[in-house]
Amino acid sequence: MAFPQSFLDELVARSDIADVVGQYVALTRKGSNLFGLCPFHNEKTPSFSVSPDKQIYHCFGCKKGGGVINFIMEIENLSFPDAVRFLAKRANMEVPEEEQGRESQLRARILALNRDAARFYYQCLQKPEGAAVAEYLNRRRITRQTAVRFGLGASLDQWDALIQAMTHKGYSKTELLSAGLAVQGKNGGIYDKFRNRLMFPVIDVRGDVVAFGGRVLDKSEPKYMNSQETLVFSKRRVLYGLNLAKKSKRPNIILCEGNIDVVTMHQAGFDNAVASMGTALTTEQTRLLSRYTKELVLCYDNDNAGQLATARALEILDNSEFSVKVLRLPQRLVDGQYVKQDADDFIKFQGPEAFDRLLNGSENGIAFRMTQIAGRHDLGDDEQRVAYCEEVSDLLAGLENAVEREIYTTRAAQAAHITPEAMKLEVQRAFKRRLARDKRQRQRQELNPAAALQPKERDLRYTNVRSAMAEEGIIRLLVLDEGLFPQEAPIQPEQFSSPALGHIYGTLLQAREAGRPLSVAALAGELNTEEMGLLTNLLQKPVSLANGVQALEDYITIVRTEYDKRSGQGTMDPLLAAQEFRKRKREGKQEL
Ligand code: CTP
Ligand code: MN
Repeated sequence: MAFPQSFLDELVARSDIADVVGQYVALTRKGSNLFGLCPFHNEKTPSFSVSPDKQIYHCFGCKKGGGVINFIMEIENLSFPDAVRFLAKRANMEVPEEEQGRESQLRARILALNRDAARFYYQCLQKPEGAAVAEYLNRRRITRQTAVRFGLGASLDQWDALIQAMTHKGYSKTELLSAGLAVQGKNGGIYDKFRNRLMFPVIDVRGDVVAFGGRVLDKSEPKYMNSQETLVFSKRRVLYGLNLAKKSKRPNIILCEGNIDVVTMHQAGFDNAVASMGTALTTEQTRLLSRYTKELVLCYDNDNAGQLATARALEILDNSEFSVKVLRLPQRLVDGQYVKQDADDFIKFQGPEAFDRLLNGSENGIAFRMTQIAGRHDLGDDEQRVAYCEEVSDLLAGLENAVEREIYTTRAAQAAHITPEAMKLEVQRAFKRRLARDKRQRQRQELNPAAALQPKERDLRYTNVRSAMAEEGIIRLLVLDEGLFPQEAPIQPEQFSSPALGHIYGTLLQAREAGRPLSVAALAGELNTEEMGLLTNLLQKPVSLANGVQALEDYITIVRTEYDKRSGQGTMDPLLAAQEFRKRKREGKQEL
């Protein structure tokens, strides 16, 4: 444990969860809890709750939850120690730093190594050995100045050029592997992961080199190689180029598909371009973007994959606070045939002014989707017009803004050559269909209680639901009314059927033994994200403390009986067992 427990307990006590969360999420009171829109997934109705009593947050939608430290880890994308430092600063507390955790030491080493590696690749580009990459940059019309701005580099056509250079600087084999810069070979040796590639250092908004992307210089596959996920790199949370784009004076941020697009766009003066590295846009990335802009322009490639990526990004951004536009790159006519074009191609062939015109004329997300639906139907054909109206009305019924709904309903009516009134009726019907669909879905969920009892995380699925429910009950009582528990633990974590619940219970027992307050928030360092979610979820379920003693006895009996069944000792009927338990307790034979 990196920080003294007393320090963590005090930090948690001084960081009120409602205050901290309130700085990120607009919260309104509902009963004893506060509610708001979940910052961790996209939603229209608030299912994110904060309990000032229990000092926890929990989202009923995505099932994320935890205490104040977990919240900061999640929303600020920080490791546990960094989240602790973040909160300590806020609470004006001094951090006892002499015991720096091993993990944060390794993080610091990886970041230093990445920086040195970036420098090495950069230097290689200037040397004769880097000539192939330099030539490639010429061919892509990327100037030296631009290459410097992005810190582009060259990995050499050798097996261990980087390893040699970094070992010389004092980095170990383990560090090279942990940074994802070296790969373990079959015979125990290691070799450079990136060879003979154009290197793109990936720099986060803090200015740290967190990863690398490397592009081949010819048509071979794979075209790109990226660093694996490491202690300092999570693909979902980074956007290539945002370190520069965040300083742009332009009013929006342009999302494009590739690293090369970003580089050429910046070179052409569009210094607000970023790209997600070969993945669909994530909610983590939109949260990051929201710090720097209110307007996004989607500029994906104009092939099928790009259209799909656009549709998916629009879904993620649905009813978000961003205003979203879609820039459609036209296809390019080559020898009488239309071919795919990305931002890089467009700027190369049509020039920055033409791109600027597209940017100014780009349509918003609704218009884009309407055009897509129209493209799937032949509006000259009556039957297809009906189908168009149905599909488009479903889209319009989902718009929350009444003005927008009205404007686009009229536009859809024009496209389908029907009166606005008829289209409006169609939208109202679609709205009712939607409500009915939501209701059916809710009912289905309610009719399937067994599924509802299971944790959302697949890995945590209960194998014995009956025992797991009792285990949840025991944990709930322990957190909410510790006084119910005798000094000696009445049941052991090993007897739990769910390893995750057993671990949570064991951790709570340890904290209790150490005389610490049993707050969820103080366990952030000991439980992982999934376990925290599980814990806050089970704490949401109703509990009557009036019958606490009885409830605890019953829970313990169930867990014991199920445990005995598993371990093949005794096959007592649980009801009988409960009676037996009570009898023994009355007679003072049972420990509890
Ligand atoms: N990508 C990847 N792995 C691949 C292919 C692509 O990680 N095998 C990621 C890269 O981050 C790349 C992005 O997806 O930048 C978009 O791919 P693509 O459009 O093919 O790459 P560009 O950078 O645009 O390169 P180019 O213009 O040379 O095709
Ligand atoms: Mn591309």
